[in-house]
Amino acid sequence: MSEAIERPASGAPPWEYASAPESTDIVRLDDRYGLFIGGEFVEPKSGKWFATISPSTEETLAEVAEADVTDVALAVDAARDAAPAWRGLAPAERAKYVFRIARQLQERAREFAVLESMNGGKPIKESRDVDIPLAAAHFFYYAGWADKLEYAFPGRGTPEPVGVAGQIIPWNFPLLMAAWKLAPALAAGNTAVLKPAETTPLTALLLAEVIQEAELPPGVVNIVTGAGETGAALVDAQVDKIAFTGSTEVGKIIRRSTAGSGKRLTLELGGKAANIVFEDAPIDQAVEGVINGIFFNQGHVCCAGSRLLVQEPVFDALLGKLKDRLQTLRVGDPLDKNTDVGAINSRAQLEKIEELVESGVGEGAEIYQPECLLPERGFWFRPTLFTGVSQSHRIAREEIFGPVLSILTFRTVDEAVEKANNTPYGLSAGIWTEKGSRILHMAQRLRAGVVWANTFNRFDPASPFGGYKESGFGREGGLHGLEPYLTFDGGAP
Ligand code: NAI
Ligand code: MG
Repeated sequence: MSEAIERPASGAPPWEYASAPESTDIVRLDDRYGLFIGGEFVEPKSGKWFATISPSTEETLAEVAEADVTDVALAVDAARDAAPAWRGLAPAERAKYVFRIARQLQERAREFAVLESMNGGKPIKESRDVDIPLAAAHFFYYAGWADKLEYAFPGRGTPEPVGVAGQIIPWNFPLLMAAWKLAPALAAGNTAVLKPAETTPLTALLLAEVIQEAELPPGVVNIVTGAGETGAALVDAQVDKIAFTGSTEVGKIIRRSTAGSGKRLTLELGGKAANIVFEDAPIDQAVEGVINGIFFNQGHVCCAGSRLLVQEPVFDALLGKLKDRLQTLRVGDPLDKNTDVGAINSRAQLEKIEELVESGVGEGAEIYQPECLLPERGFWFRPTLFTGVSQSHRIAREEIFGPVLSILTFRTVDEAVEKANNTPYGLSAGIWTEKGSRILHMAQRLRAGVVWANTFNRFDPASPFGGYKESGFGREGGLHGLEPYLTFDGGAP
């Protein structure tokens, strides 16, 4: 452009980014995907199929089978049939298969990343740099434990797999959640039936191809697609363990329906994390952490830092910098390598976000959204800040699961702790301060499974993750994540 461009007072950069879209050529989609049962793609007995779309274009990408009770039972039978041989394999042999999956994910990383962004709407730089590498890392990490289980839990007796695991996952990190579920289950010698979320089944189905290529014995991993009814059928099926990640609402339903069944259960549910900035925090770093904490993956993150607690003396400075930073976020095409905030995953989720944001305005909080053009088709929501938020507002209490930050203030350390813990959830929290002693003091008092200090949304396969209170129970990642897939000396967990 030749005309002089003035830098807007808002702090937005004085240039436009040229678009840099990632090509979709690498992805070869079938028109239709059957269920992955017993090592093969099979037609659903239900005879039902549903379309899976791209949330950024609303185009249909493929048709996917909808598994009913009969289909789920067939998948569970396949997993049960495969169980004795799989658990009987020498652990080092079992590890080889899991390592193979990890390596194949790396080999095909670009394909997985592009497909993840097409089907789920997340920015390609996130699927490329976070989701896919972390999914591979989980398989690598747990493959390493497969032949060391006895040493992993000293004094506990002989570790044995629990049997068949039913695993139900959400749409916000589709491949990564599949990895969190499958990697520890397989390494511990279990077989599995995995149900991906209805809006994002495609990378799990591509993973089924990888599992075929890795020559896993048929039936060790089965993948059944469908929505809530399919998930409920899996919960009620003859499985030994259910692992669920999703809404607290559905978690409660599953808790009720597994009660008294002898099935083991782990639940990883919602969150409303406090991200707490103290007056001595390195402010520019904190701004980046706050932005990453809530706008990463469009805020579709159970551990998102959705409640910002700012110590009063730095409130004005921080707010000014946050508003400036918001102006620079690039919202749009998930496949564009410059995009920071992609598409909202589904129309239903967009409506939920819109409803909660309206409630925030209605209850008297002050809204701030940067000017930015949104694409005409697809599901989009502007990055949003709310100030003047009180603890009783719905936007301070309920999980919005979108790019919306509610900002509150505090004066003392005790007030920060009290406000941070004033939530039915307890998944994660963030602390920004220069004082190491304050980090330790806060971390002890925050009722949250993960507490990040001077960083946010950091994940590592070796580090356990999970919640308190209505955020669920059980841990994933690390040795803690292996334990729910084992029994010791044939008995008590
Ligand atoms: P959801 O909990 O309904 O869906 C998660 C998974 O559970 C999907 O695979 C779904 O098909 C399955 N499912 C649904 N009903 C089921 C049932 N009765 N039995 C067994 N499985 C069932 O979540 P949804 O409706 O997509 O999102 C609603 C809200 O939940 C979001 O706005 C967000 O606040 C929260 N959420 C939290 C997640 C997290 O990572 N903790 C992930 C997804 C949603
Ligand atoms: Mg639901």
